[in-house]
Amino acid sequence: MKILVSGVGGLVGAAVARRFGDLAEVFGIENNTRRDLFGPSADISQNLKRLQKDCPGLRVEVCDIRSAETVLKLCEDQRFDAFVHCAGQPSHDLSGRFPALDFSINVVGTHNLLEAARLTRPDAPFVFLSTNKVYGDFPNSIPLRETHSRFEPADPASRRGFGEDAPIDQLGHTPFGAHKAAADLIVQEYGRFYRMPTVCLRAGCLTGAGHASVSAHGFLSYLIRTALRGGSYIIEGHKGKQVRDNLAASDLAELIALIISARPQGGVVYNVGGGAANAVSILEAIECLLQWQGVKLRWSYSETPRWGDHIWYVTDLARVCRDYPQWEPRKDLRMIFDEIAAWSSDEAKIVRG
Ligand SMILES: NC(=O)c1ccc[n+]([C@@H]2O[C@H](COP(=O)([O-])OP(=O)(O)OC[C@H]3O[C@@H](n4cnc5c(N)ncnc54)[C@H](O)[C@@H]3O)[C@@H](O)[C@H]2O)c1
Repeated sequence: MKILVSGVGGLVGAAVARRFGDLAEVFGIENNTRRDLFGPSADISQNLKRLQKDCPGLRVEVCDIRSAETVLKLCEDQRFDAFVHCAGQPSHDLSGRFPALDFSINVVGTHNLLEAARLTRPDAPFVFLSTNKVYGDFPNSIPLRETHSRFEPADPASRRGFGEDAPIDQLGHTPFGAHKAAADLIVQEYGRFYRMPTVCLRAGCLTGAGHASVSAHGFLSYLIRTALRGGSYIIEGHKGKQVRDNLAASDLAELIALIISARPQGGVVYNVGGGAANAVSILEAIECLLQWQGVKLRWSYSETPRWGDHIWYVTDLARVCRDYPQWEPRKDLRMIFDEIAAWSSDEAKIVRG
């Protein structure tokens, strides 16, 4: 089987490439746009080198998904059996400053890959990494209560999380959320109109070792790396009590492998995340760091919340677990913290030489 993975140097793309390893011929698309977007600390070249060492069969095409011609040519030459589209501009803040750039990557780039799939292998599964930000600020509209360390829904029945029936329109999104929602709808439509086996995975916080995290993207990894480097972290708004659920990229890659082998129906949407058990507020994450890694994070507080930040977001995994009962998040928060911390220490040794 030949699989195309866009954004293969990123967190999710690399996890998917590792999951398939020698089991498939993996072709990655990457051009280090992440460094251009976020600066040198987001450079993915080291991660890519390590990935190529771990997966000797991996082929990486230096290619920009914004070029329809290049993407189509690659797909015509290779006739892929599956597509996993992970390349994207992932930050709200950046999308507000550069909306046209965000549109070109998240909407045009997605459409280019879909069209290339339709013209070459319309029968091949196409998995798109969408986001819970398609629900805009709807999650912030439910009544919350405040505890000493977090916000949470006032109604206990809501604490199982947000399902796919949450609304996506008539809401504030930021350009990033709107563009990802547009791409998500286009992916669904290719499933319905052209009957292609397309799937949108609306992810909460994804995390793991090897994320070139920065303050604008990669919450848990950035927090842990900042602590281990002795840096200082800025909590932005909501008293640090905003809650996210966290899913290890390797667990997500496992789900993607199951979806590909199941040859899904077209236009399917799943919310994916770590679920209630893997949910943590920023204050709680700082406490976990102290308990589990013995590291005290220096932090300061800014009253202004980040654009698009959800105050409480937990994924309701009911639909994805109904369709893929053999899947569940296997890495709990402790395992995720340990994994990121171990990788960060290795990384620091490499930087020190
Ligand atoms: N990480 C999360 O918490 C999270 C949560 C929800 C959704 N997502 C979505 O999942 C996808 C993958 O996320 P990630 O965390 O792996 O992001 P990432 O930034 O780590 O990886 C994306 C990769 O795509 C590459 N890329 C970007 N634009 C490109 C282009 N024009 N051509 C070729 N390559 C390009 C980047 O260089 C980067 O290496 C994104 O679409 C993101 O919006 C991520």
